[in-house]
Amino acid sequence: MSYQNILVNPQVRPYVALIQLNRPKELNALNLELMGELRDALKALDADEQVRVIVMTGNERAFAAGADIKQMAGRNAIDMLKIDQFTTWDQIKKTKKPVIAAVSGFALGGGCELVMTCDMVIASETAQFGQPEIKIGVMPGAGGTQRLPRAVGKVNAMEMALTGRFISAEKAYALGLVNKVVPVELYLEEAFKLASEIAQLSPIAVRLAKESVLKSFETGLSEGLEFERKNFYMLFATEDQKEGMAAFIEKRAPDFKNR
Ligand code: CAA
Repeated sequence: MSYQNILVNPQVRPYVALIQLNRPKELNALNLELMGELRDALKALDADEQVRVIVMTGNERAFAAGADIKQMAGRNAIDMLKIDQFTTWDQIKKTKKPVIAAVSGFALGGGCELVMTCDMVIASETAQFGQPEIKIGVMPGAGGTQRLPRAVGKVNAMEMALTGRFISAEKAYALGLVNKVVPVELYLEEAFKLASEIAQLSPIAVRLAKESVLKSFETGLSEGLEFERKNFYMLFATEDQKEGMAAFIEKRAPDFKNR
């Protein structure tokens, strides 16, 4: 598939794919076209047997500076309703393989929200996160008021959404929004390292573990525990479970086959 607004490398490392948002002049502002391509690319990589983990990145200056303000500015509410841009986001959210965001520079508005749809986040020391929509007369619309409080707690989410202030990578780490902060020259490599570590594990176990963690945001504890338990039991139907446990007992490295 050829894309105009993103670059896709399905094998940047063994079993690891890379998606790079690629509208550098606009600081990777997320227009409808880019989001549609991102959805299509994630769907294709999700279906690709040679891909186990996906890294999503922008460039050093910006992961993404938010939804494309110039594209939205003249629209009225009915236009917005008809275009319903966030349906694309719902589809992106359904990606089954782990997605790691590698963030440098601005991750603002929809850019910060896109980071939060990813499963793990590696940030460069220069990364800045924020929900500045309030400064342009609107508010977060792609999950900022819902995922942010779950990630950083109520008061921090309120401060970000109600003032539009940015937070540094260091603060984002302290608040639990990112997994690790590294110097700018290392953020992509660090994301590949994390991706490669996960890519060596049983893809079916990884998939069900991701699904179970995400379930915890949607359910109460009892229902979530029930869901987790069924996924745990289901893994005993896989060859990878037999291989993983046999390898432990035989004191050797496992060779997972995704079966
Ligand atoms: N949409 C469209 N264009 C954008 C953009 C955006 N979100 N962010 C930056 N750009 C464009 C700028 O207009 C500029 O283009 P021109 O050269 O043609 O003028 C170019 O990218 C470079 O930006 P700046 O000159 O502004 O760069 P800067 O370093 O001075 O400032 C910035 C960087 C602080 C990120 C500033 O660009 C900014 O505040 N951007 C907007 C951030 C924002 O409000 N994001 C939220 C959008 S709404 C949203 O995301 C809704 C949602 O929930 C989905």
